[in-house]
Amino acid sequence: MAGLFASRGLRLLPASEPQRRAGRWMLRSAFLALALMAGAAVAQTSNPADAPGGEEPSILPAGNGQEEVFYACTACHSTAIIRRSAFPRQQWDGLMDWMTEKHGMNPLEGDERKLIVDYLAQHFGPRTTPARGRNPFLN
Ligand code: HEC
Repeated sequence: MAGLFASRGLRLLPASEPQRRAGRWMLRSAFLALALMAGAAVAQTSNPADAPGGEEPSILPAGNGQEEVFYACTACHSTAIIRRSAFPRQQWDGLMDWMTEKHGMNPLEGDERKLIVDYLAQHFGPRTTPARGRNPFLN
């Protein structure tokens, strides 16, 4: 009985200043750890290589057709799949049909198709072509 009172009394005592400071410190570092984890999660999901969101047309090499390619091609995947490709013009052209037939892309025709395929062939052609303005780390 006396022990019960004693322990109750102990618990009711206000925490000493060092104890309180330690408590605050632990709270703060727990919060910091949480914030860091949340930050890492956000950084992961906004990786431009995986997520279409967060990319800008300027991620593609500047040139005639840059914006058209960006907007026609990022509805379903990011530009990473394009930037790591290196195909001759004919293959890019065939890929446009493949994307339409297999994956439901809006058919590209006429001038728009020419603009887009020309751009792709010029900037993402076979690696043996002169790498004009190409970023060696992206290819
Ligand atoms: C309607 C959706 C859609 C659109 C729009 C689209 N694609 Fe794709 N694309 C896909 C799918 C689905 C794949 C297959 C992805 C995979 O295999 O992981 C793919 C794959 C690719 C590949 C990889 C092919 C290979 O064999 O390595 C390239 C390159 C590509 N797309 C380029 C483009 C370009 C350039 C455009 C714009 C002209 C475009 N895509 C627009 C759906 C689309």
